[in-house]
Amino acid sequence: MPDELFEQLDFEPNAQFEKIIADLMDHHYSVVPDFLSPLETDALREALLQKFENDAFKKAAIGNRFNEQKIKSVRGDFISWIDQSVASEAEFKFLKQIDALAAYLNRTCFLGIAHKEFHYAVYPEGTRYKRHLDVFKNDDRRQLSLICYLNEPDWCLQDGGELILYLTGEDGERTRAVHPLPGRLVIFQSREMEHEVRPARRNRLSLTGWLKTF
Ligand code: OGA
Ligand code: MN
Repeated sequence: MPDELFEQLDFEPNAQFEKIIADLMDHHYSVVPDFLSPLETDALREALLQKFENDAFKKAAIGNRFNEQKIKSVRGDFISWIDQSVASEAEFKFLKQIDALAAYLNRTCFLGIAHKEFHYAVYPEGTRYKRHLDVFKNDDRRQLSLICYLNEPDWCLQDGGELILYLTGEDGERTRAVHPLPGRLVIFQSREMEHEVRPARRNRLSLTGWLKTF
């Protein structure tokens, strides 16, 4: 049984969602500068930091073939999954916004999105996530990757922590660097888009998730 049915949500034209769809079709990714308002970003950052202080975060994994030192050099983040059944008001509002986007994508592009999963992520100062794809060899249900940045309002370009997208075109490979500015959403096709996270010079905060098919 599906645990979520995005089809049933109300459907109203939405300029932000239309832009995301057009970008995804043209370039396999989209960057939305103010997906979250400053107030929403603050509330989610507070929730993240509270959980981080309460030790609700775990070291993110990359499979069992690697030792701890190796993992740290490939992927340095700590994560905490969001459980919708005990979500705070800010988390619930965010997840509803994502549901509306998923419903829109299903109605307009027949993507067949059936589930979502989201976690908070903290990349401690100086840590990275080397170039990778978000799908696993034995599980490619992740269709779209979404990252919402929750960094402090005074985050600046010199702080680093860019998301590097590897774009393939007729003329070879290009990269696009996306700065993790607070409130910004990046969304890309999980099966297509190789990407990496560059080290930052302060803790880098985000809410990251996936829209998945069955
Ligand atoms: C990931 C990831 C990108 C980012 O969690 O798989 O690639 O910008 N995150 O945080
Ligand atoms: Mn990734």
